[in-house]
Amino acid sequence: MENSCFSFLFVLLVFSSTSSAALADNHEDFIQCLSPSNQTSSNIYTPNNSSFSSVLQKSIQNLRFNTTKTPKPLVIVTPVSEFEVQLVILCAKKTGMHVRVRGGGHDYEGLSYVSEVPLAVVDLINHRKINVNVNDKSAWVEAGSTIGELYYRISEKSKTLGFPAGVCPTVGVGGHFSGGGYGTLLRKYGLSADNIVDARLIDANGRILDRNSMGEDLFWAIRGGGGNTFGLVLAWKVKLVDVPEKVTVFTLNKTLEQNATKLIHKWQYVAPRFPEDLFIRILVNRLNSSDQGGNNKQTLVASFNSIFLGRIDQLLPIMQENFAELGLRREDCIEMSWIESIMYFAGFPGGASPNVLLSRVQLLTRNFKAKSDYVYQPIPEGGLEGIWKLFFEDESQAAQVILSPYGGRMDDISSSSIPFPHRVGNLYKIQYLLYWDEQAEEVADRRHISWIRRLYSYMTPFVSKFPRAAYINYRDLDIGVNNIKGHTSYAQAKVWGIKYFKNNFDRLVHVKTKVDPSNFFRNEQSIPSLT
Ligand SMILES: Cc1cc2nc3c(=O)[nH]c(=O)nc-3n(C[C@H](O)[C@H](O)[C@H](O)COP(=O)(O)OP(=O)(O)OC[C@H]3O[C@@H](n4cnc5c(N)ncnc54)[C@H](O)[C@@H]3O)c2cc1C
Ligand SMILES: *[C@@H]1O[C@H](CO)[C@@H](O)[C@H](O)[C@H]1NC(C)=O
Ligand SMILES: *[C@@H]1O[C@H](CO)[C@@H](O)[C@H](O)[C@H]1NC(C)=O
Ligand SMILES: *[C@@H]1O[C@H](CO)[C@@H](O)[C@H](O)[C@H]1NC(C)=O
Ligand SMILES: *[C@@H]1O[C@H](CO)[C@@H](O)[C@H](O)[C@H]1NC(C)=O
Ligand SMILES: *[C@@H]1O[C@H](CO)[C@@H](O)[C@H](O)[C@H]1NC(C)=O
Ligand SMILES: *[C@@H]1O[C@H](CO)[C@@H](O)[C@H](O)[C@H]1NC(C)=O
Ligand SMILES: *[C@@H]1O[C@H](CO)[C@@H](O)[C@H](O)[C@H]1NC(C)=O
Repeated sequence: MENSCFSFLFVLLVFSSTSSAALADNHEDFIQCLSPSNQTSSNIYTPNNSSFSSVLQKSIQNLRFNTTKTPKPLVIVTPVSEFEVQLVILCAKKTGMHVRVRGGGHDYEGLSYVSEVPLAVVDLINHRKINVNVNDKSAWVEAGSTIGELYYRISEKSKTLGFPAGVCPTVGVGGHFSGGGYGTLLRKYGLSADNIVDARLIDANGRILDRNSMGEDLFWAIRGGGGNTFGLVLAWKVKLVDVPEKVTVFTLNKTLEQNATKLIHKWQYVAPRFPEDLFIRILVNRLNSSDQGGNNKQTLVASFNSIFLGRIDQLLPIMQENFAELGLRREDCIEMSWIESIMYFAGFPGGASPNVLLSRVQLLTRNFKAKSDYVYQPIPEGGLEGIWKLFFEDESQAAQVILSPYGGRMDDISSSSIPFPHRVGNLYKIQYLLYWDEQAEEVADRRHISWIRRLYSYMTPFVSKFPRAAYINYRDLDIGVNNIKGHTSYAQAKVWGIKYFKNNFDRLVHVKTKVDPSNFFRNEQSIPSLT
């Protein structure tokens, strides 16, 4: 990391005489402001540059936002040093340019690069240094890194250290850690954000702060309060966690004919109470299977997808005792290293080199819309069967529901420890996903989005209420939005804010009002400032 004090002084000298926050779209002034440094000019892309589209598209992870009709940013900047990032923020402030920070680009609603209002994107693609320290079991991770890169860098240095983060390796740490971040280690170690011990942040005044200089309120807010709200994170310091040399994985598929409904019903009672070393999630997909007459028959397959932080011999008795109905056999289980389990969950074939984790390209990118729910009470079998009915409609060829168990460590962490509030009492989280490939964008989008809204509406009686909680990293603009063109009131933001943050919403508003009163860092679902 470079010396930030020097940069800050320099920037102060350059800008101290200029006023901030003009309201018009002034991207040309913004570009001019950046250019005197001569350092950034080669990393400024406007639609005039031949590589603008490829720079923009490189991190688009939802094809819904890769169409000709999608509003495009006016400028994309890909700074190469912390000083340049600082300059981008100061120039944006000076010229009234609206900025969005982009890490891995996985935002479900594309908020890191799409808006109705004119934008400059600060893409952190060149900020990917990762420093793993096995002695004190920590790592500094620059915010443009992906979780796959972090996993890979850890595994280069240690076979018995890991980090609790998401399943898909292309996800960026910038947004992921800002919204919580969970994966297969959640029942043992909590979220990514629970394991952050320091950060380097550029605040709305362009200052570079660390945990000590930002203070505990702001440090609390950036660990789950959502990205693009409290500042631009340059880097995170994380605490690594212990993993055994060998872990055990399995995936058991059960169709409706193989009692999937009964097994899912039972899973709700046992999965949140398993020992914390055992994580079994369920992915439900529609499947066409041929019956004996060779006719295509519609059914569903529930994949019980699991990792156990131990050996097969330890796992089998636990399953026999708690969930014998699933019928897990020794031959269904595979022992492997933790990093291999990362690749297994990510869908890479066995034997793939860990290098695949360095790729920023998803195995398959499609159009999708998703939503989330939290479950406090097991859903009765009849309730589950109602979901399956919706799965057999025309729009839902590629529907998916993912059930992720809570419990374990998640029950022990206080719901106000960080802004992420979904702790004890939650049995599991549901993610609903619908994918589609149709080209006729608007019609297809409307048809599919309307299907997933119907599913969400059907689920109302079975899931959390007052508020109906949701996970911010599964961003869903259906649950409420800010007025991105004008002023957002506390009441307006509370509609969506209370779903993501519950009782932590007020403290987030308080911190935001203190650290970014002019609401410089904002998007359609960012915590508003009360001034
Ligand atoms: C294929 C796929 C798989 C996923 N799997 C999981 C999973 O297993 N577990 C899970 O918890 N989530 C998962 N997610 C959701 C993911 O955690 C969120 O979408 C996350 O916000 C993505 O971060 P990003 O940096 O890739 O995205 P971006 O779109 O770049 O950023 C998301 C938000 O954070 C802001 N932001 C990004 N970087 C910074 C920064 N440095 N400082 C301040 N703000 C910043 C952006 O402006 C935007 O508002 C998945 C998403 C996808 C598309
Ligand atoms: C930028 O480059 C131009 C020409 O290459 C030079 O004249 C100018 O002094 C440089 N500006 C700064 C701030 O370095
Ligand atoms: C993009 O175009 C501008 C002028 O239109 C130029 O100054 C800049 O260097 C170009 N950037 C790249 C990356 O080519
Ligand atoms: C693109 O180039 C044209 C002519 O070279 C110029 O007039 C225009 O301002 C440029 N647009 C942007 C967004 O830089
Ligand atoms: C996005 O669209 C462009 C064409 O406009 C295409 O070349 C690119 O492959 C698309 N991105 C993905 C991930 O499919
Ligand atoms: C289980 O089902 C999933 C989803 O349909 C499928 O992708 C996978 O190949 C199946 N696995 C096995 C072992 O049958
Ligand atoms: C389904 O469950 C019933 C009992 O509830 C059992 O008799 C039957 O064998 C099970 N079917 C399969 C395929 O496991
Ligand atoms: C399932 O079968 C139907 C009818 O044969 C077909 O139209 C559909 O595309 C198939 N769906 C999948 C997911 O294979």
